[in-house]
Amino acid sequence: MSVDRSSWEVKDEAVLAELVQLLNLSADEAAILRSPHDAAQKQAPAMREDFYTRLLAHPQTAEYFTDINMSRMYAMLQNWFIELFSGVYDEAYARRRINIGKAHVRIGLPVRYPIAMLDVAIAHAEAVARTHPQPDAAVAAVRKVIALDMAVFQQAHEDRQLEFLSNMVGNERLARRLLSEE
Ligand code: HEM
Repeated sequence: MSVDRSSWEVKDEAVLAELVQLLNLSADEAAILRSPHDAAQKQAPAMREDFYTRLLAHPQTAEYFTDINMSRMYAMLQNWFIELFSGVYDEAYARRRINIGKAHVRIGLPVRYPIAMLDVAIAHAEAVARTHPQPDAAVAAVRKVIALDMAVFQQAHEDRQLEFLSNMVGNERLARRLLSEE
């Protein structure tokens, strides 16, 4: 591959703004998600319950929670879920979500796990969206917001690998070419 790509220049918080554009997440859709915010608060404990039941039943994921303060984890996961319905997907939101992605890179977690676990979040987020007077529009909107998180989790892992390889070979452009060439 010989051409540089403009996507390579989109970094950090700008990634989220770019994806909002790509997904056509409009101001109206963002606003739609704000109104079921109370329903999201009510749904959050059930989401957290399903999430950890699944995660702790699987030995490869359960082992990440040895010596972890679970009540803190529960609160952070519920906040993450409720924030899907904040209605504001700006730079500050991007920063918070990117930092969550990075926290999982730091613990050496293969990215397949958080991405697979979004399945639980999607089911509960759609249940919240269906409480809206325009359920189809709300479901479509929340799917876009979850797609943002899926992308951010993946991006955090990719960024770390790119950073590591860039440091080794001296620059990011060369690192990208090495990663993409056969
Ligand atoms: C949908 C997927 C997931 C979401 C939304 C999520 C959410 C979060 C949030 C909000 C935090 C707090 C980050 C911070 O601000 O410090 C966190 C931390 C953490 N998550 Fe997840 N998580 C997900 C998947 C997973 C999976 C699959 C595992 C393990 C198998 C995991 C293990 C952990 C651990 C161990 C921490 C604590 C990290 C630390 O102490 O710095 N998470 N998660």
